[in-house]
Amino acid sequence: MQDDLERILFDEGTILARLDEIAAAITEDYRDRELTVIAVLNGSLIFMADLLRRIPLPLKLDCLSVASYHGGTKSAGEVVFRQVALPDVQGRHILLLDDILDSGLTLEVIRRRLEEANPCSVRICVLLEKKIPRTGPTHADYVGFEISNEFVVGYGLDYMERYRNLPCIGVLRKDFIDSK
Ligand code: IMP
Ligand code: MG
Repeated sequence: MQDDLERILFDEGTILARLDEIAAAITEDYRDRELTVIAVLNGSLIFMADLLRRIPLPLKLDCLSVASYHGGTKSAGEVVFRQVALPDVQGRHILLLDDILDSGLTLEVIRRRLEEANPCSVRICVLLEKKIPRTGPTHADYVGFEISNEFVVGYGLDYMERYRNLPCIGVLRKDFIDSK
């Protein structure tokens, strides 16, 4: 699998060291608040598992499943919720977790839906943020790493549902994107 990468951006040790830092910041910020984490599946699964075990606070965990990419490398411009019932967020401090902030459409749509249900606050935490101009208002409060505008896989991120189990994050070879 690793041979399909053009180059590795972050190895496992680098990712976990950064998670220590983000987890420390989140722990500090939510020390006196009732935290509810909502993870956006499937991309944030591995990130969520490693991050949450570094946050020694009582918290609730919920997951949301949405589709925004439909398997390719370009956003379809539409976000489809795969479940009807949303987690109960009323009166809670919500931390939304996702793998990557690309156009920001996915997180913006989710944030708006959650805000309709009167949470106390909604913050966003992403492992990766692409450095691209964004038209929408989406901003991540906690960011693992900023990356350039390339298609990356591994550590939860997929291409056509593959590569999620790679322990590192890397840029997928262009010939793999075109031919498979
Ligand atoms: P956005 O709505 O454009 O911000 O896209 C968000 C979703 O697209 C993410 O949650 C990912 O699932 C997917 N995505 C965006 N960029 C990449 C990438 O470089 N590799 C893998 N998935 C990506
Ligand atoms: Mg995703």
